[in-house]
Amino acid sequence: MELPLPIDRASGVPLAVQLADGLRGAAAAGILRPSDRLPSTRGLGATLGVSRTVTAAAYDQLLAEGWVQGRVGAGTYVTAVPPGAGTAAGGPVPGRAAGTAPGTGYPLDPGRPCVAALDRAMWRRAWRAAAEPEPEDRPRPDGLAAFHSAVTEHLLRHRGLAPADMLSTAGTSAAVAELARLLPPGSTVAVEEPGYRRAVSALRAAGLRIAPVPVDADGLVVTELPIGCAAVYTTPAHQFPTAVRTAAARRVALVERARDEGFLVIEDDYDGELRYDVAPLPLLAALAPEHVVHLGTASKILSPTLGVGWAVGPAPLLAAWRDLRSRTGTRPSPAGQRVFAALAAHGDLTRHLRRLRRELRERRELVLAAAGRAGWTVRGDPAGAHLVLEVPDETAAVAAAARRGLDVRGLAGYHEGAPRTSGLVLGYAAGTRAELAGALDRLVG
Ligand SMILES: Cc1ncc(COP(=O)(O)O)c(C=O)c1O
Repeated sequence: MELPLPIDRASGVPLAVQLADGLRGAAAAGILRPSDRLPSTRGLGATLGVSRTVTAAAYDQLLAEGWVQGRVGAGTYVTAVPPGAGTAAGGPVPGRAAGTAPGTGYPLDPGRPCVAALDRAMWRRAWRAAAEPEPEDRPRPDGLAAFHSAVTEHLLRHRGLAPADMLSTAGTSAAVAELARLLPPGSTVAVEEPGYRRAVSALRAAGLRIAPVPVDADGLVVTELPIGCAAVYTTPAHQFPTAVRTAAARRVALVERARDEGFLVIEDDYDGELRYDVAPLPLLAALAPEHVVHLGTASKILSPTLGVGWAVGPAPLLAAWRDLRSRTGTRPSPAGQRVFAALAAHGDLTRHLRRLRRELRERRELVLAAAGRAGWTVRGDPAGAHLVLEVPDETAAVAAAARRGLDVRGLAGYHEGAPRTSGLVLGYAAGTRAELAGALDRLVG
C-alpha cells in the first residue's frame, strides 16, 4: 500500500506527531479504511528512514485515540475513520464485530464524565458569569488569577492540599505532554503497567524512554521501579485502569525513593475528588511537595468542554515550565478557566460534587448487581467512575458486548507489553442511569 506520509525533519514538530497526523489524514482521505492492516512499525520505519521508536510512538498515539487496534504479533488494523472521512467500505475488523468500531456502541468505556449529573441551569449560569469580566488583552501563560483562587479553594476543601504555587493547564494529558518536554531528552520515565495509554504516548512522543512497572492490588509495585528514572508517572488515587488505590505504605516508599534518587513523581489525580465512601489517603504532593508534580483536571468532575486543569509542583519545575511556555507561546485557554472559577464562586461546584458522588455510588451499585447476576467478580475501589469486571474470557466478552451494541474495553489494550492481567474495564458515567441499567442488562444478558 502506498501511503502519502510526508515527513519534514526541519519543521520542529516531533516525527512521531507528524507520522500520526499523516496516518490520520490518510484515513480521513479514504486511503486507509477500516480493517486495513498498517505496515509493521519496522517496515514503515525503514520505508520512511525513521527509527522504529518513532513509528511505534505514532501507532501508540492512534491506538490511544481509538482509530487503530493492535495485538502483539498480529499487526495493527484500522478500526475507525476520523471525522470528515467518506463512508468507509471494507470487511470485518479483527477482534471487533462489524459496525462496532470504538465510539459507535453504547459507551461503557472508562474515562467519561457523568454529564447527566450536571445541572444545566448551574452550567448556563456559570457560562454567562464567565462572559462578564473584560476579555483578556494579553496572553496569560500562568493562567487566570480567579482560576488559581478557585483551584486553591478546591484543593484545600476536596483534596487536603495547600498549594504554594500553581499553573493552569489545558487538562492532564496536555500537562503530561508539556512536562515531557521539561525532562532530560532520552531519559527514562516509569509508567504503570497496565496504565493510561495517552500519557505513555505523550511521553514517548517527546523522545523519552518508557519503563513499564507492574501494578497489583496495592497499586504501583515500588520495589520494581528501575534505578535511574527521571520521572515516575502514576495515578495513586484510583489507578487507571485497574481502579485500585495505592496503599499508604507504597506512597511513602515511592516518595522516599524519589527523595533518595532525585526523580520527579507525576501524580495524575484525574478523578481523586470522586471517592464515595472511604477517606482519601494522603496525596503524594502532600507527602513530598519538593519531588511531586500534582496534576488535576476538570474533565472528570465536570466536562472536558472546559479544557482546564492545574499543576502544583516544586518551584524550580514550575519556573522551567513557565519559561518553556513563554518561549513557545503555549498557554491554556482562559475561557474554561473563567467558567470553572464561576462555578466555584458561590458553592455550585461543591454542591455538584456532592450530587455527582451520590449519582456515581448508585451507578456502581447497578454494576455490582449486574455483575452478581452474571457471576462475575468486581475489582476496584468504590471511587471514580469505572471498575474492572473479572470475566472468564476477556476477548470473547468484548466481542459479545460489541455484538450487543456496547463499547467495552478489555484490560489487554492498556498494556505496554504482553498483558499481565485481564478483565473488562467498565465505565459507568455515560448516559442516564436508566440507559446504563439497560446497557448492563444487555452486557450480562
Ligand atoms: C488516567 C487519566 N488521566 C487523565 C485523563 C484526561 O484528563 P484530561 O481531559 O484533563 O486530559 C484521563 C481521561 O480519561 C485519564 O483516564
